Amino acid sequence: MQLQITNDYRGLSRAAARIMAQRILTKPNLVLGLATGKTPIGMYEELVALYRQGLVDFSSLVTFNVDEFFAIPVDHPLSYHHYMEEHLFQHVNINSRNTHFPSTTVSDANAVCREYERRIQAHGGIDLQILGIGHNGHIGFNEPGSDWGTTTRLVTLTEETRARLANRDVSLTEVPRQAITLGIKTIMHAKEILLLASGREKAMIVRQALQGPVSTDIPASILQLHPRLTVVLDRDAAKELNDLDDLRRLE
Ligand code: F6R
Repeated sequence: MQLQITNDYRGLSRAAARIMAQRILTKPNLVLGLATGKTPIGMYEELVALYRQGLVDFSSLVTFNVDEFFAIPVDHPLSYHHYMEEHLFQHVNINSRNTHFPSTTVSDANAVCREYERRIQAHGGIDLQILGIGHNGHIGFNEPGSDWGTTTRLVTLTEETRARLANRDVSLTEVPRQAITLGIKTIMHAKEILLLASGREKAMIVRQALQGPVSTDIPASILQLHPRLTVVLDRDAAKELNDLDDLRRLE
């Protein structure tokens, strides 16, 4: 595990964007697994800034989002498709044919999930998977209890997750109950993983994920076993970690 602790959220965003930019420079047709949520917003802003400086070219990049809500239109305020357009895609030279989301408006969710997996494999698998971590340790929408062997599938969100997704613009009743997510196995098959966490409210779960037992109770704990994991935390999110030297010795 490579561990980087930054002073603040801005530093985390910059560090994460630089890692992504390096990988894209090394492999312009990188297959990128993307996450949404609050944590990566700053990273996407930094990437757009790097693009505007002519430092990153997105034209050959291929992306697969890690999850999307089930059966919501693209213009729904919680749509991750909409989020990606807003925070990254509309600002850079990405080819929309290369961006993938689990299509969630089709009724046969199983067929959608199989097709998503097939497309990922057809591109040679995910090179770099970006992840945030939920307060309950979820990655993608793999909630606690998810099997290690899962692939892309339809899942039911916990009430805790739904409550956290409700915000000033979206009431709890409007938050979908189901989503399609890459499975844990699919995530673990990514060649490299970049996990980001920011803020004091993530400090306990970060400790459980990185230093606790590997357990399906904390889905993110499986990442301890990934051969190429980079973790970028800001100081607040790293507050509860013990023996940082031991963690770094794993590098
Ligand atoms: C989003 C996703 C989720 C988030 C997690 C953290 O695509 O897969 O697992 O990464 O819920 O969300 P934030 O960053 O909003 O705390």
